[in-house]
Amino acid sequence: MKFKVPRGTQDILPSESWKWQKVEQMIREACEVYRYQEIRTPMFEQTELFQRTVGDTTDIVTKEMYTFKDRGDRSMTLRPEGTAPVVRSFVEHKMFGWVDQPVKLYYIEPMFRYERQQAGRYRQFVQFGTEAIGSADPAIDAEVIALALDVYKKVGLKDIKLVLNSLGDKDSRTAHRDALVAHFTPRIDEFCSDCQNRLEKNPLRILDCKVDRDHPLMKTAPSLTDFLNDESRAYFEKLQDLLTKAGISYELDPNLVRGLDYYNHTAFEIMSTAEGFGAITTLCGGGRYNGLSEEIGGPSAPGIGFGMSIERLLLALEAEQVPLTNDDALDVYVVTLGDAAKQEGFQILQQLRSSGIRADMDFLDRKMKAQMKSADRLQAKWVTVIGEEEVEQQIVQLKNMAEGSQQSVSVEKLIEIIQAEVN
Ligand code: HAM
Repeated sequence: MKFKVPRGTQDILPSESWKWQKVEQMIREACEVYRYQEIRTPMFEQTELFQRTVGDTTDIVTKEMYTFKDRGDRSMTLRPEGTAPVVRSFVEHKMFGWVDQPVKLYYIEPMFRYERQQAGRYRQFVQFGTEAIGSADPAIDAEVIALALDVYKKVGLKDIKLVLNSLGDKDSRTAHRDALVAHFTPRIDEFCSDCQNRLEKNPLRILDCKVDRDHPLMKTAPSLTDFLNDESRAYFEKLQDLLTKAGISYELDPNLVRGLDYYNHTAFEIMSTAEGFGAITTLCGGGRYNGLSEEIGGPSAPGIGFGMSIERLLLALEAEQVPLTNDDALDVYVVTLGDAAKQEGFQILQQLRSSGIRADMDFLDRKMKAQMKSADRLQAKWVTVIGEEEVEQQIVQLKNMAEGSQQSVSVEKLIEIIQAEVN
């Protein structure tokens, strides 16, 4: 029997994993600069958490969740997204009582969605997300957007654009909802069964239906922008002013509704404009979710955040041909000749490593030539050669590979020389 990686998932091999580490490191640095702190929540939660927040008419909840009964007959779901778990944790740990508000959190964690596999769409993907909870100031919306853009800038992406919309507050949305029902009702039989279901429950979801995307009524649907009340409009204008002042350009898209139910006011996406980037161009999506905390039994705690997958970020880097630099070259390769030298060599290897020097040696008893080849392949900056004579005299031959020079040195001296260059 042959086993394969499950459809929609991938093994990340050493030839790729270093890129993930690089990107994750840059993300962590950016979060530190913005004072966002890491939170880690469980990989699964009670199913109801997602039904109540993401929404039970959304694609995520109706079609994409990995839901299972645990042995205590409770319905659990592998998290399809990070916002609901983080807000659940915010409420559970009473973070609303923390001195510093808003609470600014980030996570880099796997998410699970049973989606059709295609480029940029996986069933397990790693999302970097942020959540700033406890403030309804448009400046925090601007900050969250700026952080997402800064991450893309830091990794070297250039061909990206920010798309912005406002979904308004509850009153604006109710007015818009009524208009949508009136718009779609006369021709609802021409839509898929999901949309027919959505008409009464949540007509806004019709607008992001993948099946009926090209139906003429989609293009003439009433736009949310026309239903924003004064308060929502003022909030949105303040955000746009803040972005403009910070030198952040954006496009307005009244059709940007996002695929999760908890959003209101600000909604945004960052898209790749790189040529040949494939069908899915959204790199990052986010928005404001005032009321989500109350929805799960917490106090009022308005929040905003975003999620971006590392997978799509790496695909965008590839599309723009931005190279990441791999600096994992070895400092020293220890070549040993014979048993006694191997014993001595291993001891030296460990001494080098405890001094923070990247070192490796041969573990297959290969001939000198093969060991030198390994050193080359691993791009070792130095090679130490230890034979019988060296063991006797308690020295090593140290070769500087770039210069081609060689000298005999004691082990102490060896560490001194290399450390001076490495640090
Ligand atoms: P979302 O739009 O569902 O929002 O996902 C955000 C991002 O996750 C997408 O833009 C994409 O980068 C990535 N993503 C989603 N599905 C997949 C997939 N199947 N394969 C690869 N990448 C994927 C959310 O999840 C919200 N929780 C974001 C948020 C945080 N809003 C406020 N706070």
